[in-house]
This record gives sequence, C-alpha cells and structure tokens, in this order.
Amino acid sequence: MQTKTLYKKDIYNGSLVLVNHNYPIHQDYCSSMINVHENVSYQVEQKVHKLFWQCMNHLQIKDEIVITSAYRSAQDQEKLYNHSLKENGKDYTQKYVAKSHHSEHETGLAIDLALRTNHIDMICPDFPYTGICQKFRELCYDYGFVERYGEFKQSITHISQEPWHFRYVGFPHSLIMKDKNLCLEEYHDFLKQYTPYHPYTYVVNQRVFDIYYVPVKQSTTIALRSDAVYQISGNNMDGAIVTVWRNCL
Ligand code: DAL
Ligand code: ZN
Repeated sequence: MQTKTLYKKDIYNGSLVLVNHNYPIHQDYCSSMINVHENVSYQVEQKVHKLFWQCMNHLQIKDEIVITSAYRSAQDQEKLYNHSLKENGKDYTQKYVAKSHHSEHETGLAIDLALRTNHIDMICPDFPYTGICQKFRELCYDYGFVERYGEFKQSITHISQEPWHFRYVGFPHSLIMKDKNLCLEEYHDFLKQYTPYHPYTYVVNQRVFDIYYVPVKQSTTIALRSDAVYQISGNNMDGAIVTVWRNCL
C-alpha cells in the first residue's frame, strides 16, 4: 500500500474544480497555461489545448471551428460583464456572463467555440447542433470535455444554455456526466455518496475506473495500492475526487 496526504490547497486545484455563482475560483488555484498564437491568440491550460486539437484532428477539422475565448483573468471577466451590461442589459448579462472570480474561464479549463463566419458574437457565438459543430460536440466527451451549460440545467448552474461553452473535466468524468445527463454541480453531488471503501465503478471500453470523494479539512491521508495509477482533483468546495485507473478487464 502507499499513502497520499491531501491538504487544503488540494481542494482548490484540478480538472474537476467547480467554479460557479456559489464557488469562486480560489487564490490557491494553480495552472499551467500556454500562449497559443494561431489565427487568434489566447491562453489556455496545456492539456486542454492538446486534447482539443487531438479531437479536432480526429475529426479532420482545420479551420471551420475557432476558439473565441479561453482563459480570462478576473479583470477581463469584469470588463466583459460591464461591457455586456451596457450593451445588452442586466437580464441578458446575468444569463450569459458570470461575475468576475466566478467564471470557469478564469481556470483556463473552459473554451468558447464558434463556427467560423465573418461576424462572430463574442458573448454568444454560433455553435449549432448540426454539421461539424455537432460532430465535435459528440466526440469531445472522449477527450474529457463536456458541454457545460445544457438545456434544462439553468436552475442549477444559474447560466442559460450555452451551446458554445465547453469545459474540460477529464476522462472518464466527461463520459459519466454525459451518460447520466449530469451537469458539474449534479456530478459532484452524485460523487459524494462514494467513499474509498465503496467507490463508484465505471467501465468503458473494457477499462475499469474506481471513483470516490474524500472530504478534506486541514489534511486527510488516503491509502492506495502501491501500483495504483490515479488522479486527484479538488472539487473547490470541501474535498477531492480520486480516480483510480484499474487494470483492463
Ligand atoms: N459565459 C460563462 C458563463 C462565463 O462567463 O464564464
Ligand atoms: Zn464560455
């Protein structure tokens, strides 16, 4: 057996952090952002960049789809919010723009996508449920992305449906969320019932995953098999999610 100690800062980091109207991004959030210069320039988490392009290459998409927004600083988010308030009014802004410190874009794990056209709306880009955009939407779950603000989830997320906003949560969480039609808030509620002694076991393509929640106060030590392959992400609330990659069936 091996042990791993989780500390408070671990709550606030990782691909599964929940950043929403209730839970702001934490000052201890660390990222490994890269600068991308293609047709447009943006910053994004490295793994998000790599997996986005793996998905695009799989679909042989070159420039029909563009990233319109990725990482935004808290100041950028505040500017966007205030700009939208002036241009679009309060109702519209509250539906589609998070307040600063409460936007997933500040994590570098979220990207907004648009079908390439001459005019792209920067707040609500066109990313239809048809054609190449739909093909991307269907495949992106295999690469760890979810469509974050779905239809009928507004009362939970406090954001209206956003067909263009994709969030990296990591594999296989993306697939489980899709299978169960859970938004990130619901997924974290779902995971809270699972413990190291009673994990949620998920099987996909003969691969087996054990997933569980660990509450973290000041520090918590967990035991893992000495050969375990695992990932840990904070939930940005009160604990962490452990994902163990077990041997194939
Ligand atoms: N459009 C999403 C909700 C954001 O502003 O983060
Ligand atoms: Zn977005």
